[in-house]
Amino acid sequence: MSILVLGGAGYIGSHTVRALIEAGRDVVVADNLVTGHRAAVHPQARLYEGDLSDRAFLDRLLERESIDGVIHFAAYSLVGESVSNPLKYYRNNLCGTEVLLEALVAHGVERIVFSSTAATYGEPERIPILESDRTQPTNPYGETKLSMEKMIRWAGRAHNLRYVALRYFNACGALPDGSIGEDHQPETHLIPIVLQVALGRRERLDIFGGDYPTPDGTCVRDYIHVCDLADAHIRALTYLEQGGQSDVFNLGNGVGFSNLQVVETARAVTGHPIPSSIEARRPGDPATLVASSDKAARVLGWQPRYTDLGEIIATAYRWHRSHPQGYGDR
Ligand code: UFG
Repeated sequence: MSILVLGGAGYIGSHTVRALIEAGRDVVVADNLVTGHRAAVHPQARLYEGDLSDRAFLDRLLERESIDGVIHFAAYSLVGESVSNPLKYYRNNLCGTEVLLEALVAHGVERIVFSSTAATYGEPERIPILESDRTQPTNPYGETKLSMEKMIRWAGRAHNLRYVALRYFNACGALPDGSIGEDHQPETHLIPIVLQVALGRRERLDIFGGDYPTPDGTCVRDYIHVCDLADAHIRALTYLEQGGQSDVFNLGNGVGFSNLQVVETARAVTGHPIPSSIEARRPGDPATLVASSDKAARVLGWQPRYTDLGEIIATAYRWHRSHPQGYGDR
């Protein structure tokens, strides 16, 4: 039996495929390669190029392969773009997942692990954030992810499908050997942008906002290494295989770093001065997002291995230094 990874050519997907193969799983990847990269797909995984909203494509794949579990990463994930083009997010993230669920039900697949996000919470009620806290997204990206969670919950009850939703905080880092990593076009995330400055690919860093109610005035985030996220997906799959009930888990380190602390740490890792200045706030940024991942620790036995921000940034730096153009396919 095989595991189907939708979006397995993307950033978190490709690291999870790698971990699945190392764990001895047989892996099938489906990806439309719009934001994913062919070169990120592990050579031992069988790649099907196509879209999850294409029912005929999914049917062909599910007829040909013997799939007994699905990990679903295939979604658009740019907060700003989701505000300017919300229907793109509803179509792909929500409608695409609806087609996928119909196909899974028709082919008798009973387990799905899928990517959710800290953006489902919106402005948090308290820190650290618990899974039971209020979910009130402040952008269409978070809204489509929360709707996906709800759709899968109702479909699961009706159709004997069990799920785990994983709400990631700030995914970062790269496989320590530097062979795969983060390559978004355009890049909007803090750590890759900081490292592009260190590598001379950008002049400087704009820090969005210096007047937040945080210790140094800049936003605080919970950075979690992509390999720890990959490990959590395998644990979630195993949990479902062992009969675990449908559930939702936060995935973070439980420690917050301000944007200034990230820049300082990157200066220490790279030895580059990384010129930066405080600019206007970016609309929609919550001041502080820090996870409680106690539930994932308790139920899935998950503990992040990368707890040192310097070490996390060093793995990302290794990837960006050895792949200054990313995968070089765009
Ligand atoms: N930032 C800058 N300058 C930049 C880029 C980012 O100051 O050039 C700041 C942001 O304003 C924010 C922090 O760095 O304060 C982190 O920003 P990222 O874009 O790296 O990450 P976000 O916290 O905005 O987004 C992440 C995930 C999203 C998810 C969101 C939940 O990438 O998918 O967390 O709020 F939706």
